[in-house]
Amino acid sequence: MKIAFVGKGGSGKTTLSSLFIRHLAATGRPVLAIDADINQHLGAALGLDEDVAAGLPAMGARLPLIKDYLRGTNPRIPSADEMIKTTPPGAGSRLVRIAEDNPVYEACARSVDLGSDTSARLMATGPFTEADLGVACYHSKTGAVELLLNHLVDGRDEYAVVDMTAGSDSFASGMFTRFDVTFLVAEPTRKGIAVYRQYKNYARDYDIRLHVIGNKVQGPDDLDFLRAAVGDDLLTTVGHSDWVRALEKGAPPPFASLEPGNRAALDILRQVVDDSYERRDWERYTRQMVHFHRRNAESWGNAKTGADLVSQIDPGFVLSEELLGDLREVSAQPA
Ligand SMILES: Nc1ncnc2c1ncn2[C@@H]1O[C@H](COP(=O)(O)OP(=O)(O)O)[C@@H](O)[C@H]1O
Ligand SMILES: [Mg+2]
Repeated sequence: MKIAFVGKGGSGKTTLSSLFIRHLAATGRPVLAIDADINQHLGAALGLDEDVAAGLPAMGARLPLIKDYLRGTNPRIPSADEMIKTTPPGAGSRLVRIAEDNPVYEACARSVDLGSDTSARLMATGPFTEADLGVACYHSKTGAVELLLNHLVDGRDEYAVVDMTAGSDSFASGMFTRFDVTFLVAEPTRKGIAVYRQYKNYARDYDIRLHVIGNKVQGPDDLDFLRAAVGDDLLTTVGHSDWVRALEKGAPPPFASLEPGNRAALDILRQVVDDSYERRDWERYTRQMVHFHRRNAESWGNAKTGADLVSQIDPGFVLSEELLGDLREVSAQPA
């Protein structure tokens, strides 16, 4: 199950991502945590020391390896140089599972101990420098996540949680369409709501399952404000958490001691995610990635690579969990 946390900077995306990751990991199920925000804080929110978090391998710096692995033997993609962030998988491509070992995880992921014998796998796009913003290099960093999501075949009871910016880059690339559920974190302020409206506009055309999580909600006035602004899209709210504050002081209490009200909110999120499995549509998922690939190829990709990237689209290919069955059968054949 692919889950995005989006919202305005400072709204609490990273905080709620990290709490949700802990909540899921506490069930013992596999969780892949991905930090795709411009401000890389997910590692620290998961309890890593700042220097360890800063030393996480950057996906953006390992794009050639990621591309080479994912293209596999796909004849439509003769070289990693011709792979852009939207290049879709096709026959011969390598698909990725949440709980497996593969060279991409080996190079880019680290296991994070969340205490009480729970853990999650963490990947990060890498820090963004001033120079990255607004240039191709910045796109290539979140592009690594989009490529991974487009090759990820995830099942029920396994989760990829992405802490993401709600910026225009994710709309141009198609990244915002890659999730079973999108949680928009909003403080009860006009700015928080403005980001919601923008997101909702993009989401409408692509059948995005968007839920608002009110954060730092203090009382009935806050709740009324959010409800008036987003209506039924408001799923639940989280209040100020002393647990989070203690974590930020460097003394993380056991997760079991999170405030019951906040835990109940996390469980509502989990329920929504788990329920969305039944409404999955791999055919639409594939169609959307092809749509955005065509658009990116024509607007800049073809010019940049000097190749006809639209020919990378494999018309007969639909990403799905069934493909994994086929792959297992194939690899189970005696050599
Ligand atoms: N529910 C909460 N309770 C206490 N502190 C919170 C809560 N939500 C967010 N914060 C604090 O607010 C600040 C911004 O949150 P953060 O998750 O980093 O926002 P974002 O990732 O959206 O930029 C952080 O210092 C964080 O610890
Ligand atoms: Mg953040």
